[in-house]
Amino acid sequence: RRSSSVSSLKDGLRYIPPWTTPYVIGIGGPSGSGKTSVANKIVSSINVPWTVLISLDNFYKPLTAEERRRAFENDYDFDHPNAIDLDLAYECILNLKEGKKTSIPVYSFVEHNRVPNKSINIYGASVIVLEGIYALHDRRLLDLMDLKIYVDADLDVCLARRLSRDIVYRGRDLHGCIQQWEKFVKPNADKYVRASMQNANAIVPSLSDSTVAVELLINHIKLKLQTKSEEHLKELIRLGFYGSKS
Ligand code: C5P
Repeated sequence: RRSSSVSSLKDGLRYIPPWTTPYVIGIGGPSGSGKTSVANKIVSSINVPWTVLISLDNFYKPLTAEERRRAFENDYDFDHPNAIDLDLAYECILNLKEGKKTSIPVYSFVEHNRVPNKSINIYGASVIVLEGIYALHDRRLLDLMDLKIYVDADLDVCLARRLSRDIVYRGRDLHGCIQQWEKFVKPNADKYVRASMQNANAIVPSLSDSTVAVELLINHIKLKLQTKSEEHLKELIRLGFYGSKS
């Protein structure tokens, strides 16, 4: 192992970054359950350089003209797992896990479309947080994750949060939001999103008492990252990148 790693580095075939394989955290749960705020708390508390927060919202598939027309009438199903390009999401996370550069699409909820000629390039990561309603749905993505968190909340609470957000930030009206919720969001949340809870290692109740659960998770993540970096340092010493006292 030693000789292959060192020789491939010398040959310039493989770049060994100063960090280990990224630690991947998936955060799933219904729309409006509070995934983003749990993700933000984790990111700011662990405070590790090269932490990237990726939303599955960026991976909504581009629509045909007819599908966009329906989307503007709140008659397009954005809540079925097929609405999101999970193949592309998997490819991007896999690239990062393998230490390769990746490119993430930018999505506009106002236009119901990818923003043309715009993407976010990510050149590497030590921690990846992937959040989205279907973060814990796809087996391939789950297999890349070190920690799987489901953020749970009553759908009534989710609807209330979603209404204010969609009207203020996503250019929607009250009637359309409720129509979309009843026709697509709620049935899919019951059928598919909730089912992904079984893939979680931890479930966060997204009510006022979620602080303890999030704190416990943050402590767990910090411990895992510390172990990971200690192992990485030992491996570098073993490979001769740092002088060993022995
Ligand atoms: O951020 P959040 O997890 O709530 O985003 C997922 C939600 O975005 C889905 O429930 C879907 O109904 C909604 N969506 C939308 N319009 C789009 C794409 C997604 O309302 N163009």
